[in-house]
Amino acid sequence: MKQNKPSRRSFIKKVAGSALASSLAPSFLSANPNDKHVELQTPPDEKKHFGANDQVNVAVIGMGIMGFNNAETTVQIPGVKLVGVCDLYTGRLDHAKEVYGKDIFVTKNYQEILDRKDVDAVIIATSDHWHDRISIDAMNKNKHVYCEKPMVHQLEEGAAVIAAQKKTGKVFQVGSQRVSSIVTQKAREIFESGVIGSLILVETWNDRQSGNGAWQYSIPTDAKAGTVDWDKFIGDAPKMAYDPVRFFRWRNYRDYGTGMAGDLFVHLFSGLHAVTSSKGPERIYATGGLRYWKDGRDVPDIIAGLYDYPASEKHSEFTLQMRVNFIDGNGGGESIRLVGTDGVITLGWGSVKVALKKIAKAPGYGGWDSFNTFTLAQQKEFENWYKANYPETLPEVSSPGTEYFAPKNYSANYDHHFSFYKGIRENAPIVEDALFSMRAAGPALAANKSYFEKKIIKWDPENAKVI
Ligand SMILES: NC(=O)c1ccc[n+]([C@@H]2O[C@H](COP(=O)([O-])OP(=O)(O)OC[C@H]3O[C@@H](n4cnc5c(N)ncnc54)[C@H](O)[C@@H]3O)[C@@H](O)[C@H]2O)c1
Repeated sequence: MKQNKPSRRSFIKKVAGSALASSLAPSFLSANPNDKHVELQTPPDEKKHFGANDQVNVAVIGMGIMGFNNAETTVQIPGVKLVGVCDLYTGRLDHAKEVYGKDIFVTKNYQEILDRKDVDAVIIATSDHWHDRISIDAMNKNKHVYCEKPMVHQLEEGAAVIAAQKKTGKVFQVGSQRVSSIVTQKAREIFESGVIGSLILVETWNDRQSGNGAWQYSIPTDAKAGTVDWDKFIGDAPKMAYDPVRFFRWRNYRDYGTGMAGDLFVHLFSGLHAVTSSKGPERIYATGGLRYWKDGRDVPDIIAGLYDYPASEKHSEFTLQMRVNFIDGNGGGESIRLVGTDGVITLGWGSVKVALKKIAKAPGYGGWDSFNTFTLAQQKEFENWYKANYPETLPEVSSPGTEYFAPKNYSANYDHHFSFYKGIRENAPIVEDALFSMRAAGPALAANKSYFEKKIIKWDPENAKVI
């Protein structure tokens, strides 16, 4: 598993050979110091016209918050038509008809969607515990699949999804939209240019301070056994009596959700891996607790993970600290900071900033130092010695930073859906395929394993498996 640690020199040489490096590295180094804020370009709109025969028909399975959000985005892609919706709560099927017209096909049985010949692709936005089953069933029924993150509910489920994608050859993409974002692409370009030097540390966090942020979603007053198909919802989870809180706030229960790590670490991992081309960590430890949201949930409301990433061809070995906190008296916020020997890249959903600060070659003296404790005569002698040994006062390379930001109405989700249909129509490669997704979901789910079992988890990043 261990790879040789690449020197910064060999890395830059590699990048220097690529078109990317020749066009990008010099522009950062000689960036106009007045360019503090640069708006990123969105990819040009594809003006192609698609006739009725070459349109992609899609259906959404799991029409809750993200199902509606995905449907709204996906119908904006040229040549894509929403033809069916599946959900287990009648109110959401009725609302799908309100939004998309009374003729849209609706059902509570996802197999009916998969049996339809006119459905080319499905978007799966159910609770996490159904992701693997429906993805595999759909690919086996010849449907392309866009599955929400995390790809799987349990670590053991990843291999079967990867195998199904391989076997069927269907297009399969997971829904961590920041992977397709122009902001992430810019961060990747900056990282690959080598300007921040060797990567030492990555700090990431996603903190919140609200009831909805902590997954206390609204429960409709008409929810009851007749309007909710509870037995179907349970699926492979332990059987129990109908409970609307578990149905509408499933994230708070390990039987159906993946806790803060599966739900939110996974976004941070997919972003980080897209920027660094990393396959994942080797050692994982997580801790935390349930400190505030004691509403019956069986998952923590603060979790912090520590990860050791081995060196790869694209980066040096580094340490990752990742945190999600649902009771943040500081008001919440999210960031990914890649700290290198010579600078830092700060990545958010809408912007990325690069700032440089190289360490001085000379060690310096004075200030908080033993120098001031020397006798006056020794101080003088030391100064002479220092000047003789460090004759040049080389200027430190330092830049307060340039921030690249996405245009106001930019949607990473649109670009992510666009990439899915490009995969279907043009066989274009999918970045967030099953293996990439398991390399992001795995370390996230392994944080849960570490937290609940109170132990360090060893992870095989190449094959995305617990060792
Ligand atoms: N990419 C993102 O930014 C993002 C954001 C939010 C949620 N998500 C993901 O989307 C998924 C859904 O989250 P949500 O917040 O929309 O949840 P939600 O509870 O609002 O919706 C889930 C829906 O799935 C339906 N469902 C469950 N099992 C089903 C089955 N077997 N067949 C058909 N329908 C079924 C439920 O009826 C429910 O309406 C989760 O996996 C979540 O992690 C992704």
